[in-house]
Amino acid sequence: MSSKLAPRGQRPWWRDAVTYQIYIRSFADSNGDGIGDVGGIRSKLGYLKKLGVDAIWITPWYPSPQKDHGYDVADYLDIEPDYGTLKEGELLIQEAHDLGIKVIIDIVPNHTSDQHKWFKEALASKSGSAARDRYIFREGKGKNGELPPNNWQAVFGGPAWKRVTESDGKKGQWYLHLFAVEQPDLNWENSEVVKHFEDVLKFWLDKGVDGFRIDVAHGMFKESGLPDVRSSWIEKIFGKNNLTRMLSPEHKPFWDQEGVHDIYRSWRKILDSYDGDRMAVAEAWVSPASRIAKYVRSDELQNSFNFEMLTTLWKADEIREKINNSIDALAEVGAPTSWVFNNHDVVRSVDRLDLGLTNHGDTTFSRHGDVKKLSIVRGTLRAKSATLMALALPGGIYLYQGEELGLPEVRDIPEDRLTDPRWQMSNYKDRGRDGCRVPIPWKSSSGGAFGFSSNENLTPQQAWLPPSSWWGKYSAESQESDPNSTLNVYRKALAIRKNEAGLGDGAMEWIDAPSQVVAFKRGEDFACYINFGNEIELPSNSEVLHSSAPLNGNFLPTDTAVWLRVSK
Ligand code: NOJ
Repeated sequence: MSSKLAPRGQRPWWRDAVTYQIYIRSFADSNGDGIGDVGGIRSKLGYLKKLGVDAIWITPWYPSPQKDHGYDVADYLDIEPDYGTLKEGELLIQEAHDLGIKVIIDIVPNHTSDQHKWFKEALASKSGSAARDRYIFREGKGKNGELPPNNWQAVFGGPAWKRVTESDGKKGQWYLHLFAVEQPDLNWENSEVVKHFEDVLKFWLDKGVDGFRIDVAHGMFKESGLPDVRSSWIEKIFGKNNLTRMLSPEHKPFWDQEGVHDIYRSWRKILDSYDGDRMAVAEAWVSPASRIAKYVRSDELQNSFNFEMLTTLWKADEIREKINNSIDALAEVGAPTSWVFNNHDVVRSVDRLDLGLTNHGDTTFSRHGDVKKLSIVRGTLRAKSATLMALALPGGIYLYQGEELGLPEVRDIPEDRLTDPRWQMSNYKDRGRDGCRVPIPWKSSSGGAFGFSSNENLTPQQAWLPPSSWWGKYSAESQESDPNSTLNVYRKALAIRKNEAGLGDGAMEWIDAPSQVVAFKRGEDFACYINFGNEIELPSNSEVLHSSAPLNGNFLPTDTAVWLRVSK
């Protein structure tokens, strides 16, 4: 397939793009209330342009009670007042486009907020009503319906069902929520649900967005009859803490059902009916890569996050294997790979990779902190190498805000300031994902919560999630003029990548190298080496274009990546 690819610039942008994820609540606060907003994003477009990204993905900006920070949507056709107005959203799209930056927004079709008008209507209606049919309501088991309809657990912990009190004051039906109690699952077999989301897509496409990131893209259909999870698999699927293990290989009756693909076929038609290569990217926590490939067949979605690197140890042979598997699986369907090392749901790669873990399932390990041996220095080196590797591999990449600053996970957020529903739903066993969502430090001094807020008087404690006292040393300001800062390593890498015809989507070729080294060639004369072991000498016929950290003369140190121009 790759051999038939049109050259860079002549093929759809989403085959190669570097997309920067903006967690809107924590990116930049323009009105001084301690919460990030649309105005904040607009004020940083210049920074993003200089960084060199092709696109931004904005996490949900819809009106929401924020029980899961926007992934509980109360109205899909508006913007959360704390974040701004529809008009400001339109201006942001326009201004980003003027700078040549595409805009992807999040869409959350698996569930709504319990404050969505549909759910309120469902609660006020009777069992069997049309209003209840938009969600997944069922009678309970047991003599009086006192037991949940099946044994499914919510991703954040605890049962996936909640019993409602009916209008006569009696306990009644149960509704399904695969995530928080406040996130009831929609019934995608209901035609009104299907139609509404088509209208939502068109509404935002008409406003000019270039694409959608589809939340829980593998979840919208459930196996018919909602069967129990096999008892021998319960521990494997839900783990000790009853938190659903997204990527465990056992078949789950609530994920990755065939029905989801019909939805994407119809969404693809809508996307294609607009000009300008509009696209969608699936957040589908499915494994192995051959299952991911199904979401990006030629009549379905354009991208699907490749989470394989989150379940790989920091070891050359494992990484090589994951690269091969991913590329082979997607080549079958002609889709590009979309590499991911960070997002708002996983421990930041600086911490994860320092511990040698890239494993999503183990991310709570570093959150809880048996982290005595954790050295941010080693983690930072590895995280930068991982980025140079992914930027050189075929396909595109999704970066997460702050990784260009080398931000580590914040593990000392006081317990009474934790906001992630995982914390409470896991009975306070799992601190959750707040540690990777702390507001971005734009400035070194603490005023305005390290420059996060336009309000200079806002203290770090007054930001919606408080940064720790040491946060300022990672600021964009402090890294601006240091050529070796993480920020400048990223900037240079993105600048080179933009002009390097052999990078982005296309073919790659493995280079023979010592077993602790991952080395591959792109195009005619571009090579990338990542060293997972002892220092090695670089090939003699090469010129250094860029490296993740300073080299040792002609030697590539441990945990370092280098980009080379090699003789043909
Ligand atoms: C995946 C999102 O990335 C995560 O942040 C959210 O909690 C769940 N989906 C539920 O919407």
